[in-house]
Amino acid sequence: MPRFDVTIAGELNLDLIMYGLPDELPPERELLSDHMMLTLGSSSAIVAHNLAALGSRVGFQSRIGDDSLGQIALERLTQGGVDTSLVRKVPGTTKTALSVILQRPGWRNILTYAGTIVEFTQRDLDIEYLADSKHFHFSSFYLQKGLQTYIPELFKRLKAAGLTISMDTNDDPDDRWEGGLLEVFKYVDVFMPNAREAKKITRTDDLEVAVAKLADLVPTVVIKLGHEGAMAQRGKDRFKSSALKVDTVDPVGAGDSFDAGFLHQFVRGADLATCLTYGNLSGAFSTTRPGGTEAFRDRLYREQFFG
Ligand SMILES: Nc1ncnc2c1ncn2[C@@H]1O[C@H](COP(=O)(O)OP(=O)(O)OP(=O)(O)O)[C@@H](O)[C@H]1O
Ligand SMILES: [Mg+2]
Repeated sequence: MPRFDVTIAGELNLDLIMYGLPDELPPERELLSDHMMLTLGSSSAIVAHNLAALGSRVGFQSRIGDDSLGQIALERLTQGGVDTSLVRKVPGTTKTALSVILQRPGWRNILTYAGTIVEFTQRDLDIEYLADSKHFHFSSFYLQKGLQTYIPELFKRLKAAGLTISMDTNDDPDDRWEGGLLEVFKYVDVFMPNAREAKKITRTDDLEVAVAKLADLVPTVVIKLGHEGAMAQRGKDRFKSSALKVDTVDPVGAGDSFDAGFLHQFVRGADLATCLTYGNLSGAFSTTRPGGTEAFRDRLYREQFFG
């Protein structure tokens, strides 16, 4: 029996979310936000935190700076029940990453200082630790530039050790959507983009074309559709699941929470319909509190919601 259900190598940082700012940001003016939340951010860490909150055993590797924001992020993840024993805290001029999110009604600006994320490389990884798991998840393929070229080799080794693998690229800040994904897909069991990312990667405006192309490359394609829920394609089989109706505070981390819910069931061998339903449940739950983990770290609230 492996030590972990899921291992993740990825980014670990805080999100500073501000609400109530004007749409336009004129220079030199002092613009007032009506409330804010400093919370655990970064796709990889949100997936890890929420998987652990749901009851999965999670091991996490990362590289952060030796600074107070990195320390807070690390404490949050550790308090959430994730094994963070191999997170490396590296002194130097590069600081732990930070995202500042200006949340407006229906849209947001996301401003990211990538910091130590881009300095996280193959040399920071302990393959034996990552391989002591049923499953490996990789998020933020385009942000994790220091790891990108090593990913095919990493996935190959983890698959050889018997793990299944999932990936969520998230956005490409350079908007190029390259980086050798075709090679990477050879080792991916579950690919989990949102609809926009699926179309960008396959260079089409038609979601059906995108799904068909991706389904030729990976066994299970899961497409997140925001307030419309999610769909999955496995070979010729199509599955769809609607979103839940909830009172939404912000959608920050909803996609990562979806991944956590889906994977929590996937590693237990649940069928695809159950994985999708649980993904939607987790995504919706995340939107009911600020950021990606505030709902999940409230144990009573979580138990009420998931029943
Ligand atoms: N307004 C909403 N109401 C209910 N559920 C929602 C809502 N928005 C998102 N979700 C849930 O969260 C999931 C993920 O949302 P979305 O499609 O926005 O992912 P994403 O774009 O990858 O998000 P992220 O910005 O976190 O990367 C959806 O599939 C759905 O289950
Ligand atoms: Mg996403």
